[in-house]
Amino acid sequence: MARFFKYKSADDLRAGAEKLGSPLPTSSDPSALFQPISIGRLAIGNRFCIQPMEGCDGTTDGAPDELTYRRYQRFGAGGAKLIWGEATAIDEAARMNPRQLWIHDGTASALEDMLSVCRKAHTESFGSVAGLAVGLQLTHSGRFSFRRPQLAMHDPLLDPLTLDKSTGKFVDASYPLLSDDALKRIEDQYVVAAGLAARIGCDFVDIKQCHRYLLSELLAARNRPGEYGGSLENRTRLVRNVIGRIRAEFPELTIVTRMNVYDGIPYVRRDRLALPTDSDDSGTGIPVPHLHPLQVAFGVDPNNHLKCDLTEPLQLAAWLREWGVAAINVSMGNPYANPHVVRPAEFAPVDGYDAPEHPLIGVMRHFSATASLQKANPGFPIIGSGYSWLQDFAMEAAASNVRDGRCSLVGVGRASLSHPDFVRHLQEHGTMNRKLICRTFSYCTNLMRSKDHPLGQYPTGCPPFDKEIYGPIWKEIEGKRNL
Ligand SMILES: Cc1cc2nc3c(=O)[nH]c(=O)nc-3n(C[C@H](O)[C@H](O)[C@H](O)COP(=O)(O)O)c2cc1C
Repeated sequence: MARFFKYKSADDLRAGAEKLGSPLPTSSDPSALFQPISIGRLAIGNRFCIQPMEGCDGTTDGAPDELTYRRYQRFGAGGAKLIWGEATAIDEAARMNPRQLWIHDGTASALEDMLSVCRKAHTESFGSVAGLAVGLQLTHSGRFSFRRPQLAMHDPLLDPLTLDKSTGKFVDASYPLLSDDALKRIEDQYVVAAGLAARIGCDFVDIKQCHRYLLSELLAARNRPGEYGGSLENRTRLVRNVIGRIRAEFPELTIVTRMNVYDGIPYVRRDRLALPTDSDDSGTGIPVPHLHPLQVAFGVDPNNHLKCDLTEPLQLAAWLREWGVAAINVSMGNPYANPHVVRPAEFAPVDGYDAPEHPLIGVMRHFSATASLQKANPGFPIIGSGYSWLQDFAMEAAASNVRDGRCSLVGVGRASLSHPDFVRHLQEHGTMNRKLICRTFSYCTNLMRSKDHPLGQYPTGCPPFDKEIYGPIWKEIEGKRNL
């Protein structure tokens, strides 16, 4: 399998980026990352954000379980001051898997305990919770809801890849869309969930609009008839209504959002399309056949799916600020249909395909789109994603991005599972701990995608670097594969 990450120094990395056509500045001075910043009323003590990282390890009724508490304990002790809690469903039918967190009356106090565990660990390590903010990402999984797909629109490229597990059939044009009334009920559920989040002491809620879950799909729903489709005003009606109602009913709660600024289009393995292959490229990802202009991909040039068109994402960012959102966490892609866009990786996940582009191109796509949003919104907290593939040099790129105003905070995803205390290590030693740096081999995604767990979902974490817990789970899965 091709290897991409061959850099021995930040100089090598910069030269590699130049060769691929874009500059990737770095800085060996991390001080910009340790400056405080405000997100609305929240004072955040440094520029590090733990990205939402689902562990798929809740109880079947949606409460955190042992491994969930452990994850937030480790994040709390790690030193990042913005802990962006993972996807938490607003309803049972909105869950992406049977162990996803789900906020309701029956789980609220356990979620409150999870926040306490996180804050207590932070206090034990840093003396107080000053400058720490921890919240939840409220989600409706839409098309990817595990019970059955709930579509905001028909997507000619994604429908044939969307499996309705309840029937074993792929979605087609006859599959019903969520009605406008159903979307109104979903607005109500968001407001109830936000009220519970406020009650249990979340510092913020994220109204999630990324990765082609429901609100992200709505952003692209140009072909949907009615009040929630067509114009950008209509496509953003649900998020606008939800934000307005939360602000009116829970004025103390800070509202943020993680949003896709570029959807891309689905990719599949070349051999799945029955195209001629040679033995080397049969597993390589290629875009699904598609017609121009593309109709339903947000932030994408309709005549070239590889190019971002940020006209609408920039308009949406401006509106979100007007509506009262206090920070935007920028993401892109779809973890099922184009994982290389969401999280550039050295090795593909089991349900993916071999890299169709150099992962550094993917990292630079994240950085450049984030920089455009930040440039259009100077002084407003914009959080960047896609750092983990940079491995040892992630924080050098991060320091430069923050220092030079290409983002305000740096979000760390996979690397936070292998090395949850990377911030403390950076503060104390000037570098991350080499022995714990995520190599983006996709173990975490592979655990998530493994089948046949008695509860319907394997938990995920980092088998290579958090061996004590996830090593045995990985072995169990490998054993099953050998059967
Ligand atoms: C195991 C796993 C769980 C994730 N869970 C979430 C989630 O709950 N919400 C979300 O917005 N993104 C989620 N992501 C995406 C990450 O937050 C992040 O955007 C992505 O991994 C790219 O950042 P990185 O390069 O630092 O890993 C998840 C990714 C992985 C690998």
